[in-house]
Amino acid sequence: MQVSPSLLSADFANLARDIEMINSSESDYLHLDVMDGVFVPNISFGFPVINAVSKICTKPLDVHLMIVEPQKWIEPLRKAGTRIMNVHQEVCPHLHRTIGQIKEAGMEAGVTLNPATPVVMLEDVIRDVDLVLIMSVNPGFGGQSFIEHSVEKVKRLRELIDRTNSKAKIEVDGGVNLETGRLLADAGADILVAGSYVFGSADPKATIASLRAL
Ligand code: DX5
Ligand code: ZN
Repeated sequence: MQVSPSLLSADFANLARDIEMINSSESDYLHLDVMDGVFVPNISFGFPVINAVSKICTKPLDVHLMIVEPQKWIEPLRKAGTRIMNVHQEVCPHLHRTIGQIKEAGMEAGVTLNPATPVVMLEDVIRDVDLVLIMSVNPGFGGQSFIEHSVEKVKRLRELIDRTNSKAKIEVDGGVNLETGRLLADAGADILVAGSYVFGSADPKATIASLRAL
């Protein structure tokens, strides 16, 4: 299992220290949650923070845009060294075009689904995307409870990917801990995002290693 710790639950007054912890951990990515107070009922951080983090983080950046019109930010994210750019299906009327533009910019294209958005919405782009990010909470906040139905959703997505010979990876975000992570691993997830479970634990590096061992 790959692990993408979410910076949202880090100590923002000690970001350099927490990124150093990530750098020296077994984590595969660093997950950055960008919120605009429009698409989701919260505001997190933008490019001043992303660029500063990018300078000191040695892990690939996995950027999750919870914003309207995410296609406006392809070039700045490329410049910031983003590896995966995740856009929400719910805010992209021209999703096929946006996926193409992200890939042309040299990043991996991820499409994110809210809990209420069915997997079938991706049927016609599943061979074009590099990754699908399944939200297992309603986006906007860390520390929420896992929506159990997400396990079935991951299974349905795995079936769609296998049936279409897509190479898309499955990432899951929200309420992930060792228990829900195990269910997601069995359902076919490739990458787990974890915020509060990692940064709220006594030994974050050991917690990352335990998720990775799933
Ligand atoms: C929620 C964010 C998540 C969040 C997860 O909107 O997309 O990445 O940080 O936090 P936990 O792991 O605490 O549910
Ligand atoms: Zn996220």
